[in-house]
Amino acid sequence: MQHAICFVSSASAHLPEDKVETLLMEWREKNNANNIKGMLLFSEGNFFQVLEGEKNKVLGLFEQIREDPRHHSIIQVVGKDLSTGSFDDYIAEHLKHTTFSKPELVSEYCESVKGMDPQTQRHIKIILETFIDTRAL
Ligand SMILES: Cc1cc2nc3c(=O)[nH]c(=O)nc-3n(C[C@H](O)[C@H](O)[C@H](O)COP(=O)(O)O)c2cc1C
Repeated sequence: MQHAICFVSSASAHLPEDKVETLLMEWREKNNANNIKGMLLFSEGNFFQVLEGEKNKVLGLFEQIREDPRHHSIIQVVGKDLSTGSFDDYIAEHLKHTTFSKPELVSEYCESVKGMDPQTQRHIKIILETFIDTRAL
């Protein structure tokens, strides 16, 4: 059974910004090894993550992530079984000032969830748009 989880959270003081890039790559490699797809975006101290894959693996990983002291204020937006997966890959990006003015980013990321059911897609898109919009404030 495939399962998807989407959450937003905020980085804690245990996570210096200059370490983020290295961690994103490390976690991406682990996810690739476990066949977990989705995306993890970091922007202005906040995370946006979608995890998609075999249900037990995704739930187990999310348990670990929830206990991780490197972030707090975790808000889960989506947690549901899927008939088919939506992501081809695992995207991990640190959005920096240089990428702020790229309007194509939202549609590019939204493209990745187009295989999900319409309601889940809508939830993810709303949070993603808010996540990307507010980084410029
Ligand atoms: C916001 C956030 C997202 C994370 N995402 C992942 C992830 O996608 N994959 C992963 O393996 N670890 C991720 N981690 C790290 C896990 O919480 C945990 O440290 C890691 O899975 C432990 O791996 P280990 O038992 O191999 O040391 C994330 C941590 C945070 C704070």
